[in-house]
Amino acid sequence: MNIREHCLNALIMVEKDNAYSNLVVKEYINKYSFTTEDKGLFTNIVYGVVSHKKYLLFVLAKYIKRPHKQPFWLKNLLLLSVYQLLFLDIPHFAVVSEGVKIAKKRGGLTKGNFVNGVLRNVIRDKEKGIDIPKSNFGKYISIKYSFPEWMVEEFGKLFKDSIELESFCNSLNKPVPLTLRVNTLRISIEEFISKLKDLGIESDLSPICKNGILLEPKTPVSKIEDFLNSGLCVIQDQSSIRAVEILGPKKGEKVLDMCAAPGGKSTYIAQLMENHGEILSCDIHIHKLKLIEEAAEKLGINIITTMLLDGTEGVKQLGKEKFDKILLDAPCSGLGVISSKPDIKWNKKREDIKEIVKIQWKLLQNAGELLKVNGTLVYSTCTLTKEENEEIITNFLQTYPQFKLEEEIRLYPHIHKCHGFYVAKLKKLR
Ligand SMILES: C[S@@+](CC[C@H](N)C(=O)[O-])C[C@H]1O[C@@H](n2cnc3c(N)ncnc32)[C@H](O)[C@@H]1O
Repeated sequence: MNIREHCLNALIMVEKDNAYSNLVVKEYINKYSFTTEDKGLFTNIVYGVVSHKKYLLFVLAKYIKRPHKQPFWLKNLLLLSVYQLLFLDIPHFAVVSEGVKIAKKRGGLTKGNFVNGVLRNVIRDKEKGIDIPKSNFGKYISIKYSFPEWMVEEFGKLFKDSIELESFCNSLNKPVPLTLRVNTLRISIEEFISKLKDLGIESDLSPICKNGILLEPKTPVSKIEDFLNSGLCVIQDQSSIRAVEILGPKKGEKVLDMCAAPGGKSTYIAQLMENHGEILSCDIHIHKLKLIEEAAEKLGINIITTMLLDGTEGVKQLGKEKFDKILLDAPCSGLGVISSKPDIKWNKKREDIKEIVKIQWKLLQNAGELLKVNGTLVYSTCTLTKEENEEIITNFLQTYPQFKLEEEIRLYPHIHKCHGFYVAKLKKLR
């Protein structure tokens, strides 16, 4: 089976079984021994089609009636072929001939001719330029960058300037740079950079966090596999690293990570505490606790204890005023990580936000009570709606005046080259 057929099967799986594209991609890469080049193409096509689906369907609708009503295999074959024609630097004849070959195999000569006709029309119109009506700017952005209109409306509340809104939406469709957090419990940053150099990998220090290193674009993860396996570093976005630095955990403290799995931030808390003190890392899903334990072991950390906990009832289980510092990295709508999980575009609904906010509010109330006086609470999310961020924090500060806001930041992919992220640092005064 050739690589495009694998792409087609993977895309059908994503659509038919409602599977997450990142998990499907991982499953295929583990199951089949793709070449490095095929791995790259496979990942690019699957993510690309999911991410740009609305635009691709818009283009297809120019040539066929109700493209979304076509059988799964035919629709996805057209989507992946049109994606290659419009977004990738692959010779058109190769895309057409591969597409037609698969169509003939699955649907006979008629379907082969049909696919051939559609793709040739797309190639002809690509040269003229594909027109999207601009009379409604929100709608235009939602088609051009493939977002539901409600998401564009939410983003519009963040950027009044239409050029910035467009640049932001564009950047959410592009992968963030591969960022590593150096495990300074095992190696210094300088030594690590020199090890990378020995492998011919250039890197830059992160401009927004202390122990983060940005690798040159397209560095294959396989090149740093040994460093990851031996716990010299972990893959972690700059935004997550920064959130923990804002918490500022110190040696000897007692810290709660309330929603901790898979443990990326817990292990960095331990690193900043130089592996001295106590960290309680909780999560509501028992199977995820193992991930935290495995991560800690790999990095040489032994101050983390894991616990199954529904943080919305945290005080009931743990009692009041127990921790010097608390990280509440809350479950959220995830709009800031769309570049890594494009399915979020299509799976999240505006109505979901209200339900998520209710949980975030209960988590925050519990975190507030669990914190000692003079303690620090960091609330963070990888999403961008005001409701889940500034609004919930403002509401919290009004309801609980014993807390003071010390720092509040937003990080954006088009500015900071990382995931979209929000962090608020609160101090308990009495
Ligand atoms: C944003 S993720 C945390 C990522 C983690 N802090 C890290 O850096 O690796 C949110 C986590 O909250 C957990 N969660 C959701 N609802 C929860 C609840 N009521 N109590 C505790 N954990 C919860 C989810 O299982 C998920 O693992």
